[in-house]
Amino acid sequence: MKKVAVHGTAYVVFLITFGAGNQFKNDMKRILTWMLALAIVAGAGAKTKAVKTPPQLKFDPTIGETRTLTMPDGQEVNYTAYEGMFFVTNVEDSAYQTINVYVPEGATQQTPILLRTYVGGYMAAPAQQPKASDATGRALKEGYVVAIPGSRGRNSTVVATRTDKKAGIKKGQTIYTGRAPAAILDLKAAIRYLRQFDDVMLGDAEKIITDGTSAGGAMSSLMGATGNNPAYEPLLRAMGAAQQRDDVFASVCYCPIIDLDHADMAYEWLYNGTDSRQQGDTDVLAVSNELKAQFPAYLKSLNLHMPDGTLLTADNYLDYIKHELIRAAQIAKNAGADIPDSLGFKFSKEEMGGMPPINGGVKSVSKQELANQMHLSENELDKMMSRDIQVRPPVRLHLQPGDYIIDLDMPTYLNYVVSTQPLKTAPAFDTQGVAGGRASGENEEFGGKSGSSVNFTDYSAAKTGSLLTDEIRENVRLMNPMNFIGDGVTDVAPHWYIRHGARDRDTSFPVPINLALKLQNAGKDVNFLLAWNRPHSGDYALDELFEWINSIVKGK
Ligand code: DHB
Repeated sequence: MKKVAVHGTAYVVFLITFGAGNQFKNDMKRILTWMLALAIVAGAGAKTKAVKTPPQLKFDPTIGETRTLTMPDGQEVNYTAYEGMFFVTNVEDSAYQTINVYVPEGATQQTPILLRTYVGGYMAAPAQQPKASDATGRALKEGYVVAIPGSRGRNSTVVATRTDKKAGIKKGQTIYTGRAPAAILDLKAAIRYLRQFDDVMLGDAEKIITDGTSAGGAMSSLMGATGNNPAYEPLLRAMGAAQQRDDVFASVCYCPIIDLDHADMAYEWLYNGTDSRQQGDTDVLAVSNELKAQFPAYLKSLNLHMPDGTLLTADNYLDYIKHELIRAAQIAKNAGADIPDSLGFKFSKEEMGGMPPINGGVKSVSKQELANQMHLSENELDKMMSRDIQVRPPVRLHLQPGDYIIDLDMPTYLNYVVSTQPLKTAPAFDTQGVAGGRASGENEEFGGKSGSSVNFTDYSAAKTGSLLTDEIRENVRLMNPMNFIGDGVTDVAPHWYIRHGARDRDTSFPVPINLALKLQNAGKDVNFLLAWNRPHSGDYALDELFEWINSIVKGK
C-alpha cells in the first residue's frame, strides 16, 4: 500500500511538472493532495503497526547480581541472581508471571535445573529467592541451577483497566486472574522460557527437575505429566508463552493434592470406617457412605497393576496400603526409629521367635515353615539369619530377632492417623453446599474470574443441583495429571520422586499410590514412599532426595 502510494505520487508530480493543461493541473493538484494525505495515513499506519509489534520475551545475561547463601552448616554458597523476568508477553498479573533464576559458581550449560514452585493451597505464589533450609538452597550447594517461577492462583486479583463486554468484565471490576488452569499454564510458560533462553543462560533446560509440595506437589506432577500436550497450546499461545516444548526431565512431588475429581471417593473409601467418621455427623456419614461406594468402579477404570503384576482391586487395595506402610516403617526402624506397637504393628519376635518375614513380605510364618520354604534346616536358617541379606533394594536389613514388622492392623493405624489431625469433612474437596459444607479452596480454584466458587465433581454438583459446565469439566481435566499419563500423546517425565507422609490425611493414600502405579505401569522410573511419621509437609529428607537427583542426572 505504502509503495503504491509513493509510485502514484511520483507519477502525479511528473504530470504536473511537465506541461499538462490548467484544468487538468487543478484536478491533479486535488488528486495529489489526496494521495499525499493517503500516503501520510499509510505511513502513520505503518508506524502504529510498529508500536503494536508484540513485546518480546527477554533475558539479559548481564543483569546478574552476585550473592551468597549461608547454609545451615555455615557453608557459604556463591551464586548469580537473575530476577523478575516475565515468562509471557501478554502479562495479565505482573505480581506473579515472572521467574527468578539462580546460577551457582561453577555451573555450565550442562548443569541440571531445579525448578521449585512455592504454590500452596492452590493460591498464587510469587517468584521467590532460594532458601538455605529447603531444596532450593540445597540444590545451589550441590551445584544445580535453581529456577523459581511465580504463578497466579485462586486468590490473585487485578483491577480491570477496560470494559470487555464479551468476557462480561467492566472497567474497575476486580478480576480473579488465577482460577484453573492458570497456575499450570504459568508454570508451563516458565519452562518454555527456560528453553527459549537455554543457549544464553547457564543450566540445561533438557534437565529440568520440578519440585513442589501439596498443591505445589500437584503442580510439580502436572509439569511432569502434561509435557507438550496440545490441549494447553492455545491457552499458552494466547498468553504469549514462548513457542517451545514444555516437557521436563523429572518431577519431585511431595504430598500432591491431585485427582480432585476422584479424591473425595478415595478419601471416604479409606476413612469411612474410622471412629471419627462413624461417630460423627450423620449427614456427613451418609455422604461418606455414598462416596465410598463409588471408589471401586473408579479404581477398576484405572486398571492399575502392582509392581508384581497383580491387578489392583478394591479387595486387595487395603493390603497393598498395609504393605507400603510396613515397608516405610521398616525403613525407618532400620534407621533407628522406634515404631510403637500401639499403632497396630506386629513384630516378628512376638509371632515367630524372631524370624524375619520371607522375602520381606508381611506374611507371618513359623521358623520351621520358613526353613521348609527356603529348603534349609532350622540350623542352617539360624546361621543365615546372622548375616545381612538384601531384602528389597535399596533396603538392607540386618536380620536380628524382633526387628521385623510382620503385620499391621489397618483400622488401628487409620484411627491413629486421624487422631494426629482430625479428618476433613465429607466430601473432603468438593465441599460446597453438601452436608452443610462451605466452599473449599478447590471450589474456588474452579470458580470464575468474578470470584465465584463452584462444584466440580458429578457427585457434589448432583447434590446441590448445580451445573457442571463443559468449561468446568475441561478445567478439572487440565488440572489432573492422571488424565495424561500413558495416553500416547503427552511427553511424560521419565523420572519421578513421590512422597506422601504416612500420617498425612490431607488427601488419602490411594491418591498418591494411584499416581505412582500409573506412572510405573507406563514404564516410568518411580521412587515412591509413604514417608514414615511425616504429616502433610515437603522438602524433607534432603540427603535422600539429592542422592536420587544426583543418580538420575548421571544416568545411574
Ligand atoms: C493444600 C492442602 C489441602 O488439604 C488441600 O485440599 C489443598 C491444598 C496445600 O497445603 O497446598
